[in-house]
Formats: sequence, C-alpha cells, structure tokens
Amino acid sequence: MDDWLPSLVTPTPQAGYDLAVKLSRMAVKFTQPDPAMREALRPGYAGDADALIAASQVVATNFATIAAANRYWRD
Ligand code: HEM
Repeated sequence: MDDWLPSLVTPTPQAGYDLAVKLSRMAVKFTQPDPAMREALRPGYAGDADALIAASQVVATNFATIAAANRYWRD
C-alpha cells in the first residue's frame, strides 16, 4: 500500500476531522479488504442508528489522537 498517512499534522481542526474519518474508514478497509463485501454491508449499517453511533465513536477516538498530535491547533 502506498503512503496514505504521511502526517497526522493538519492545517485546521476540520481537516483533522476529515483525517479522523479517513483513518476510521481505512481500518474497515484493512479488516475487510473485499470491496464487494463492504458494499454489501453498507446498507445495513447506514440504516442502523446504533451502528452509526458506533462509527461516530471510532471517528471521535481518532480525532482525539489527531487533535493531540496538532496540539489542539493552538497558536
Ligand atoms: C460509506 C464512514 C464503517 C462500507 C461511508 C461514508 C462515510 C463512512 C463517511 C460516506 C462516504 C460518502 O458518501 O462520501 C465510515 C466509518 C465507519 C464505517 C467512520 C466505521 C468506523 C463501514 C463498514 C463498512 C463500510 C463496517 C462495511 C464493511 C462503506 C461503503 C460505503 C461507505 C461500501 C459506500 C461507498 C463509499 O462511499 O466508499 N462510510 N464507515 N463502512 N461505507 Fe462506511
């Protein structure tokens, strides 16, 4: 796999949040490498509030790491 995570440092908190979503999705991609299987599972979790809250929690955990790596974007 190519260099998909060159840095945890982002210019803004919003860019950091985008990166947190990317990290979370990459974890799913690594754990289920078959794109057809991921596509088959997508409608299930997209319509399941608890699964969406669980996915949001994963993003929140990754965002906490990224925010720390960026020193909370303080000047
Ligand atoms: C779509 C995030 C778990 C399969 C998406 C989208 C987001 C997202 C933000 C919308 C992309 C767009 O429309 O621009 C996440 C997060 C997850 C997660 C944060 C958990 C940490 C999963 C799981 C599967 C999956 C468990 C299946 C194994 C897909 C597929 C799509 C999708 C097939 C639609 C195609 C695509 O836009 O790439 N996901 N997802 N995701 N997700 Fe997830």
